[in-house]
Amino acid sequence: MKILVTGTHGQLATSLVEVAAGMPDITLVRVGRPGFDLSDPSSIRRAIIAEKPDIVVSAAAYTAVDRAEDERDQAYQVNVVGAACVAEAAATLRVPVIHVSTDYVFSGEASHAYLEGDEAEPKTVYGYTKLRGEHAVASANPRHLILRTSWVYSPFGSNFVRTMLRLAAERRAIAVVADQWGNPTSALDLAAAILLVATHRARDRYGIYHVTGEGETNWAGFARHVFRASAAHGGPSAEVKDIATAEYRTKARRPLNSRLCCDKFERTFGWRAPPWQVSTEEVVRRLLEVDYRNQSQGTGV
Ligand SMILES: NC(=O)c1ccc[n+]([C@@H]2O[C@H](COP(=O)([O-])OP(=O)(O)OC[C@H]3O[C@@H](n4cnc5c(N)ncnc54)[C@H](OP(=O)(O)O)[C@@H]3O)[C@@H](O)[C@H]2O)c1
Repeated sequence: MKILVTGTHGQLATSLVEVAAGMPDITLVRVGRPGFDLSDPSSIRRAIIAEKPDIVVSAAAYTAVDRAEDERDQAYQVNVVGAACVAEAAATLRVPVIHVSTDYVFSGEASHAYLEGDEAEPKTVYGYTKLRGEHAVASANPRHLILRTSWVYSPFGSNFVRTMLRLAAERRAIAVVADQWGNPTSALDLAAAILLVATHRARDRYGIYHVTGEGETNWAGFARHVFRASAAHGGPSAEVKDIATAEYRTKARRPLNSRLCCDKFERTFGWRAPPWQVSTEEVVRRLLEVDYRNQSQGTGV
């Protein structure tokens, strides 16, 4: 089976390559800039049609949450128009598209873990473009699976775990927000879920699903676990000071509740991610083996 993944150096695209390497029945091709640009529809169609994949995984996106507040048009072009073109090209080939979306489609004001059918009410430009992207993908290709995820980290690219390790190497104490709750998700686990769906079970199970790491925490709890895991491997560790969202200003408002309920995915596909703590320990171990301080290894979000 030939799987086409959009994005070259992204956390998820890189994780898909790594997980697929252990699956002999899969040929995975990545398309990315400059030949494939989500803000250039003709490059999208050309790249996807030329590869003739059996399924398309739409992993690339405009992910700079704060910058999107000032770059509304660019974010819209990539996350809505570009995402729709990817889905449309897959539809032309009569193959499914697995499109990745986000907890930011919700307001974050609910008190429960969000279900797929809950009202989406984004509070940021990024969340708005990702929601419109979901709608555009669904109307461009009836064979679609939209997987919403959250708090993605991995051994690749820029992410919270890498940032915490870098800061711990520089400071004794770090202030981390303790009133935003969510489900940390290893991109490697998400990649495993996507490849499971792509290879066996996509057919006739189209629709929206939530897929995250198992269990929930807040950013401060996440940071403490990163430091426990790091210390256990002789890496840097720091004291975590809890702060409130109001004390940590960001251009785009962060959801207080990012928790996504993944029961539908488990009922449908018989798969649930490992506990977030276990996957975090593995990613910390791997980051300590490379130069985690080097942000240029990241994708810059
Ligand atoms: N990161 C999170 O915490 C998080 C949370 C929820 C949902 N998600 C969603 O999960 C998916 C994967 O995220 P990620 O963490 O892997 O993102 P990432 O590490 O920021 O990677 C983004 C990817 O998109 C590509 N890209 C951006 N603009 C492009 C353009 N104009 N044309 C072609 N490619 C472009 C980048 O290309 P280059 O390779 O050229 O840099 C990169 O490969 C995205 O849909 C994101 O919205 C992420």
